[in-house]
Amino acid sequence: MKKILIGCDHAGFPAKQPLIDYLTSEGYELIDCGTYTADSCDYPLNAHATCKRLLNGEAECAILICGTGIGISIAANKHKGIRAALCGDLYSAEMSRQHNAANVLCMGARVIDIELMKQIADKFLTTDSLSTDRHVRRQQQLSAIEDGTIDDLSF
Ligand code: RB5
Repeated sequence: MKKILIGCDHAGFPAKQPLIDYLTSEGYELIDCGTYTADSCDYPLNAHATCKRLLNGEAECAILICGTGIGISIAANKHKGIRAALCGDLYSAEMSRQHNAANVLCMGARVIDIELMKQIADKFLTTDSLSTDRHVRRQQQLSAIEDGTIDDLSF
């Protein structure tokens, strides 16, 4: 994962540039999807703008930041093809990639500090999803829920 979209609302704004600087120094190419000022704005709109660009193929994954990470992850997960994971610890970041093949990392800038955010982003970006049968099957079930074909699956 080299190209990364990054978006936030006003609550995530203070963390965005430090994260961009850090990940750039680690060799990643960051695409800044805003917001670009500390003025109050609406997290669903930024989540939508960033996820649209991800789904258009501009990058392999995205990072979204709001106050808690909750609102922006809910908004991101409304998009077909987005698997957004709200992470506040390293284990969740690792599992979100290995088990869930998450393509969006969400974090709460009012919940965790910037140093932990950097470590979580590192872990997320350096962990591959597992191609183990059961994990792939579950990811396919997530897609089936999106497509409305879940009733066709047997449990
Ligand atoms: C903004 O005040 C705050 O509600 C937002 O950043 C986020 O935490 C929502 O889930």
